[in-house]
Amino acid sequence: MQHAFVTGGGGDIGAAIGQRAAAAGYRVALVDQNGERARERAAGIAGAIGLACDVSDEASVHAALDAAQAEFGSVPDLVVNCAGTARFKPLIEQTLEDFRRVLDVNLVSGFIVGQAAAKRMAPRGSGCIINITSINGVTPAPNSGAYASSKAGLAKLTELMAVEWGPLGLRINAVAPGFIDAGLSAPFFANQTVRDLRCKAVPSRRLGRSEDIADAVIFLASDAASYINGHQLVVDGGASRALLALLPREAPAQS
Ligand SMILES: NC(=O)c1ccc[n+]([C@@H]2O[C@H](COP(=O)([O-])OP(=O)(O)OC[C@H]3O[C@@H](n4cnc5c(N)ncnc54)[C@H](O)[C@@H]3O)[C@@H](O)[C@H]2O)c1
Repeated sequence: MQHAFVTGGGGDIGAAIGQRAAAAGYRVALVDQNGERARERAAGIAGAIGLACDVSDEASVHAALDAAQAEFGSVPDLVVNCAGTARFKPLIEQTLEDFRRVLDVNLVSGFIVGQAAAKRMAPRGSGCIINITSINGVTPAPNSGAYASSKAGLAKLTELMAVEWGPLGLRINAVAPGFIDAGLSAPFFANQTVRDLRCKAVPSRRLGRSEDIADAVIFLASDAASYINGHQLVVDGGASRALLALLPREAPAQS
């Protein structure tokens, strides 16, 4: 049976990816710095395990990969880098400590987890790595601190991984969520006015769900995507394409 290793698995999007991966036939390891939440989420997924792991710490990542490998008896077939954090504050007020922590958790972790996974997958000659980026990495939101830079960096790292590890039989892609009604964005969307305004800014006229992201991940991991490598799939209902639709304009002339 195939085995999926999902970081940030104690969170909303990571847990949804775990659910969809199990439905697609994977045994699932949900790993999170909050090991208790990872284990709670795993308890709701058939055959899944939850593990504590800090993705910014190389030894912790290797220990979690070892534990998942021991449990499932194989190197992971799918690794999803979904752990993420943010420090929302105007850039002028950001502390260096916060800036560096966001880069560590969102970008450096992509290198740590990706390299650790690739070293295990390469001898087998197959494997899939999917990095969860953000439309913030495409278009930076005000007050997002290091978040936009970290996600843009992770998208570029995805391309380099595909270039260097594609010849080893690996596929490395990214999924960039838009406005998802869950997890890190839940505090914003608790405000009904913000929800309504954000929905209006999305061509598909709704907020995204964790399952929208999970479905994209499972598609990219599947054989249907076997020739897709080094790609960032934006899953945002068209939001990042809608800048010109949001510009004020005169009403069209009546004929
Ligand atoms: N929710 C959104 O609107 C949205 C939009 C774009 C991108 N994303 C990305 O999706 C991913 C999942 O976010 P979410 O919305 O489900 O948030 P979430 O807070 O529910 O999940 C994030 C998880 O990452 C874990 N985590 C944080 N630091 C960690 C570390 N050092 N080691 C291991 N685990 C760590 C947290 O404990 C948490 O469980 C993140 O990478 C986020 O940047 C989310």
